[in-house]
Amino acid sequence: MNLTTIAHRRSVRTFTGEPLSADHKEAILAFAGSENVGPFKNRIRFHLLDVDGRTRADIQRLTTYGTMKHAPHYLAAVVPDNPRAMEDLGFVMERLILYATSLGIGTCWIGGLFKRSALAEELQVTAAELLPAMTPLGYAAARRSLTERALRAGAGSNRRKPWSDLFFRGRFDTPLLREQAGAAADALEAVRLAPSASNKQPWRIVIDQKKGAYHFFLSRSRGYDKMAAPISLQEVDMGIAMYHFDCVMDESGATGTWVLDIPDMEFHAHEYIITWKQKNRSE
Ligand SMILES: Cc1cc2nc3c(=O)[nH]c(=O)nc-3n(C[C@H](O)[C@H](O)[C@H](O)COP(=O)(O)O)c2cc1C
Repeated sequence: MNLTTIAHRRSVRTFTGEPLSADHKEAILAFAGSENVGPFKNRIRFHLLDVDGRTRADIQRLTTYGTMKHAPHYLAAVVPDNPRAMEDLGFVMERLILYATSLGIGTCWIGGLFKRSALAEELQVTAAELLPAMTPLGYAAARRSLTERALRAGAGSNRRKPWSDLFFRGRFDTPLLREQAGAAADALEAVRLAPSASNKQPWRIVIDQKKGAYHFFLSRSRGYDKMAAPISLQEVDMGIAMYHFDCVMDESGATGTWVLDIPDMEFHAHEYIITWKQKNRSE
């Protein structure tokens, strides 16, 4: 996946109703069955729900509150309730969402507005597992429904924070300019364009250019992020951002690894999550 696909992706909530072609369905299922382990080693279990053959009442019971129009399929993601499960889910599911985007399939992260308990029961989610998110899968309709337009306007979905709010040099009081980002400029832009719950964009990155280290921090929205505890949508957001960064760096030929490398600096209200460290760099 690459920056072009990332820039192209938008949440799709209004579909034509046409089921996925056999090729597309097979490709998605194969991807979901193989590319399903995150950087923190949690494995995501995906479940495909076909609307065809089910009653309208059944679908309403198991999915969203009417926010998705004419979606022919839903894909739900289950993860063991382990440390950093949310980040892994975000990472793995965003990889799948971008793969779907590259095939011309419409998706939308759903983490808030769905009937989690009914679906969890249907999918036999155990006490040791969590069901943080799902997405519809299908082909985008030519026009967005009224509900979709209202949701986009409500979340300010077209807007993203400027670089100066998100990326820093060495410490949180020194914003990183795009011109200073060097080879990481595209990867950071990919983070900036990432989808996030209610478009809150809670990711912050502090860069130590000498070490080739990119420290990822979470700026949690108080009172928002704990609503569905132990599920944290903002930790899912973090995993999504990690995938965007990783895949664009990888595409540019810079390989790195995720390591715990807590920087010696003032964190202010930010929570340290993980560091992407470039390989083969002399320090
Ligand atoms: C973890 C997560 C959960 C989300 N939950 C919902 C949801 O429950 N319902 C919904 O309509 N959109 C949901 N969204 C979509 C966001 O509102 C959307 O990504 C954001 O407004 C940016 O718009 P874009 O995806 O079109 O770029 C969610 C996004 C993420 C990343």
